[in-house]
Amino acid sequence: MKPTIPTIVPADRMNGLPKQFFAALVARAQARVAAGHDVINLGQGNPDLPTAPHIVAALQEAAANPLYHRYPPFQGYRFLKEAVAERYMADYGVELDPDTEVAVLFGGKTGLVEISQVLLNPGDVCLVPDPGYPDYWSGVALAGAEMVMMPLHEANGYLPDYERIDAACLARAKLMFLNYPNNPTSAVADRPFYEETIRFAERNGIVVASDFAYGAIGFDGHRPISFLELPGAKEVGVEFYTMSKTYNMAGWRVAFAVGNAEIIRLINLMQDHMYVSLFGAVQAAAAAALTGPQECVRELCAVYESRRNALYAELHRIGWNAQPPAGSFFGWLPVPAGFTSASFADLLLEQANVVTAPGIGFGEHGQGYVRLGLLAPEERLIEAAERIGALGLFGG
Ligand SMILES: Cc1ncc(COP(=O)(O)O)c(C=O)c1O
Repeated sequence: MKPTIPTIVPADRMNGLPKQFFAALVARAQARVAAGHDVINLGQGNPDLPTAPHIVAALQEAAANPLYHRYPPFQGYRFLKEAVAERYMADYGVELDPDTEVAVLFGGKTGLVEISQVLLNPGDVCLVPDPGYPDYWSGVALAGAEMVMMPLHEANGYLPDYERIDAACLARAKLMFLNYPNNPTSAVADRPFYEETIRFAERNGIVVASDFAYGAIGFDGHRPISFLELPGAKEVGVEFYTMSKTYNMAGWRVAFAVGNAEIIRLINLMQDHMYVSLFGAVQAAAAAALTGPQECVRELCAVYESRRNALYAELHRIGWNAQPPAGSFFGWLPVPAGFTSASFADLLLEQANVVTAPGIGFGEHGQGYVRLGLLAPEERLIEAAERIGALGLFGG
């Protein structure tokens, strides 16, 4: 008998996934590289520097330990959760119970998608910053919930204005995402904003998911504050903290959700059904990073700050003026009159061989901007700005 070939029909939830805006740009940039052009890629958020040697050594040693060749415990090793609690106490003065207030994640991306699965039902509203990190959209779409955008405007320091959110939306809102230092705008949040956020969350019964991916990257002597530092924060939310940016460990896939014990329990419960936790040796190396010397973090911030200064001095010289970032490793720059964010990014790729991320890929309110990553050596950043200057678009 002839075998029957099944027709592959995707589940409805697959059709609801947001389109990957940046995939086309990445493909075009790769095509230019393949055609032999010297492309400077400032379009992505992938840290370019290696993980510190003592962390790599910790992985090498742990990989030889047969203990870690077995299944790790569900929900991760306690020593790792203790290391996270220790780090939060040392850096932010925040007390965390390693058993109930820390969940180990396969990278922050996973947790940001999971939180929507564990809290949102179809018909619920999730408040999402616009522009913002597209993974929030993915989680909300998978949960079948509805997104309501919170516009971030330069005039308001790229902080959402809670007063402007429609009352009917608020009644259905169950979750909101915040992200400071911010991707893509590079804005940072202050204490009064987080205090206002906690009051807003309490008044409206909304869970706050603070994405603190760039928590370690602050400039000019300012360390970004954690949402959990504020009294009452743990009652209303959780924070997502990743090793990717702080320790240049993006490829290792380690992050944490910390804060509200009930939300942590739900994330862990969901993960019990999907994973058995990370490779034990990766957990050992992550703990070594968190409890070991922190010079590598300070040095990394200094590198980004120096790159920022070099890039912005050159951008200023060519007449492209914008507020330099206070945190994160991104620059957020207005495009010249007559361009959209996408048409300008296309022009920079085609005429200067410089890849930038068009703001529209982060939401409607990203229109009119492009994002540049400080993720190349200083001389390449300067060269990128020089090539852009040579196009003569800024009158500088
Ligand atoms: C704002 C923001 N949140 C979260 C992440 C997730 O990082 P990871 O999945 O590597 O932990 C990123 C990575 O680029 C990010 O930019």
